[in-house]
Amino acid sequence: MRLLVTGGMGFIGSNFIHYILERHSDWEIINLDKLGYGSNPANLKGLEDDPRYTFVKGDITNPELVRKLVTKVDGIVHFAAESHVDRSISSPEHFLKSNVIGTYTILEAIRRENREVRLIHVSTDEVYGDTLEGSFTENDRLMPSSPYSATKAASDMLVLGWARTYNLNASITRCTNNYGPYQFPEKLIPKTIIRASMGLKIPVYGTGQNVRDWLYVEDHVRAIEAVLLKGEPREIYNISAGEERTNLDVVKTILNLMSKDQDLIEFVEDRPGHDLRYSLDSWKITRDLRWRPKYSFEEGIKKTVEWYLENEAWWRPLVDEKVLHPTPWKLGW
Ligand SMILES: NC(=O)c1ccc[n+]([C@@H]2O[C@H](COP(=O)([O-])OP(=O)(O)OC[C@H]3O[C@@H](n4cnc5c(N)ncnc54)[C@H](O)[C@@H]3O)[C@@H](O)[C@H]2O)c1
Repeated sequence: MRLLVTGGMGFIGSNFIHYILERHSDWEIINLDKLGYGSNPANLKGLEDDPRYTFVKGDITNPELVRKLVTKVDGIVHFAAESHVDRSISSPEHFLKSNVIGTYTILEAIRRENREVRLIHVSTDEVYGDTLEGSFTENDRLMPSSPYSATKAASDMLVLGWARTYNLNASITRCTNNYGPYQFPEKLIPKTIIRASMGLKIPVYGTGQNVRDWLYVEDHVRAIEAVLLKGEPREIYNISAGEERTNLDVVKTILNLMSKDQDLIEFVEDRPGHDLRYSLDSWKITRDLRWRPKYSFEEGIKKTVEWYLENEAWWRPLVDEKVLHPTPWKLGW
């Protein structure tokens, strides 16, 4: 299998590349990434000399480049996107460009150059919006709440439309909030660990009662592998470990694991449009593809805290006042 991975220098993409190259000795990967602010070549340190791995610095909105790469592969796993909700509030146009035009560019390259290629479009639970009760299935309506989730929902619609009209072998995955090694320090879990280890206050938006459904990144990567190999064309697969926690609980758990005082917690102004609760029903991927999460939240968060504490040399160069800001949507980017 020759795979094109877009956004492979980011958090989930780099975990995916490590996992695949460890498990499939005869697979090859081309990683296309523009090296945006959230990417980090240190995530894939050690692979530079692996003959199965090629890095291409470039933008997924570049049609010539994408068309050239699409002809060389059997599969595409499309992670590349602007991914931070807070940044989408202050700078939505970057999200339209990468998430919508970028996905369109990939679909057009497939249509023109290689309709046989298998495409996995990596999407998010945020396209469904929030709900106080029950869990979303793949058939629920999309009701995005932020510029980020609106652009992800738009890209999902493009994939469905192109796949049906041009008979493409494309599937969509929608997963819940990921956590684990190599996550950029602006996101809740790494930010909490890093600020706590620096002795800084931990900002919690609003009352901290917003609920997220947490998935250890290795479980997500295994689910994408299953969809790539066994998923059906034009199907959507939700991916969730069913590990719902309030943001306040997550922060308290991390502080406990780090033996830090709970009075580091500081409630700050709430994010505009802040979704109250995400929850996915992922019965379909369990029933059809036999995927199940391996890690409970307690196991995954312990591994994650340990990883960040052991890898200060990885996160230290990425950290500045903007990245660790308590209310980042107020900043210009
Ligand atoms: N992190 C989560 O909890 C989560 C949850 C659900 C879905 N997702 C989705 O998973 C995917 C990966 O998320 P992540 O957390 O790893 O994000 P990330 O921000 O860590 O990585 C994204 C990568 O994409 C690259 N990129 C962005 N725009 C690009 C462009 N125009 N051309 C080339 N490269 C570009 C960036 O340089 C970066 O390396 C995204 O599509 C995101 O929507 C993430």
